[in-house]
Amino acid sequence: MLTAARNEMLTRVGAGTPMGELLRRYWQPIAGASELDANPIKPVRLMGEDLVLYKDLGGRYGLVDRHCPHRRADLCYGWVEHNGIRCSYHGWLIDATGRCLEQPYEDTASPKPSKAGCDSKAYPVKECAGLLFAYLGPKPAPELPIWEPFTWPNGFREIVLADIPCNWFQCQENSIDPVHFEWMHDNWGSRLRGGNANAAPKHLKIKFEEFEHGFVYKRVREGQSEQDRYWTVGRVALWPNGFYLGSHFEWRVPVDDENTLSVAWFFMRVPKGREPYVQQRVPTWVSPIKDENGLWISSHVINQDIVAWVGQGRIADRTKENLRSSDIGITMMRKRFFEEMEAITAGKEPGGILRSANAAACIALPNMARELNTEGIPLADYDKDPILRQRLKEFRHHYGQPPEVRRAFVEAMGIGGS
Ligand code: FES
Ligand SMILES: [Fe+2]
Repeated sequence: MLTAARNEMLTRVGAGTPMGELLRRYWQPIAGASELDANPIKPVRLMGEDLVLYKDLGGRYGLVDRHCPHRRADLCYGWVEHNGIRCSYHGWLIDATGRCLEQPYEDTASPKPSKAGCDSKAYPVKECAGLLFAYLGPKPAPELPIWEPFTWPNGFREIVLADIPCNWFQCQENSIDPVHFEWMHDNWGSRLRGGNANAAPKHLKIKFEEFEHGFVYKRVREGQSEQDRYWTVGRVALWPNGFYLGSHFEWRVPVDDENTLSVAWFFMRVPKGREPYVQQRVPTWVSPIKDENGLWISSHVINQDIVAWVGQGRIADRTKENLRSSDIGITMMRKRFFEEMEAITAGKEPGGILRSANAAACIALPNMARELNTEGIPLADYDKDPILRQRLKEFRHHYGQPPEVRRAFVEAMGIGGS
């Protein structure tokens, strides 16, 4: 249980709030690069700031104030040029550093045109593994962490976005919550498919460990032992707002205090013998979270998680919760957030920030599926593992995979049919 004031500290993300200041110290995934292929301009709301993301004709990404510095028109209705984005109201041109390069009428008619004070707010953007990351914190920006899976060749990658109408922190608490798998995905999942027993293997013990890039949780369930990789390796609640499960990442990116962008990056190595496989473009798609009757979609794993997150309310009221031993990881994570917020107030750099390009170049994380993802296995062996078998059959994580993404996946895997 938390006081209302402590809950606010964890959940408010605007500029100048303790959590807003902390999260701004880390690169945040905000979009898939392929989203800008058809239309190079995308509105983005991030930690309460309305911005416009664009790729100009020179290939540079920009993330600037959505409102033009002239008289606040919406730059999403402008267009990109060789060096920047131009407002469609009076033609001012803004570059990726926020500099106002042109003010057409003043440049033509004014004897001494001055652009002083006309710069826009602007944030750096970097592309990695098909994702676009933005940094909204104080300069100099730290290195962008290149997680090892971003460097793996011979894989089919896809990016899935979902707009979640609740605060980011309750989504992130789900990243350190092993027991919900048994109930939400196994027992509830089985009931959704017509089952009527709570037959999933029970969690017998869990533990949580902290490391440089977050927390690892480990579990032993009925039928498993301490030799199992779920106990020897575990899964990662990636600091500060990610989740890493061996073959995919999820980030809970705050849009504002009451909305979150779920960004998930998936990797599926092609079967042995299908190499070399070079993916030309990483597809990005948006997963719907409600059905035609306005009910939350519950058929897919992350959609089930979303049902839990939104069910906790727009901002979960932590003054009314009752934490127990299954929630030790959540308590550890909150404590770390409070400590890091205090560190910033004290003028210190929070944890997990990388200042050396070498250290950031290829960061290994605890990974239960490294061999599968780096060496691959023959197609015939996928059948022996129920999760892999299922993965080939259909995309189980998010509802709504577009047919063209499925077709590209089938082609990459060499499995034929659809
Ligand atoms: S409002 Fe953008 S150029 Fe005038
Ligand atoms: Fe889950």
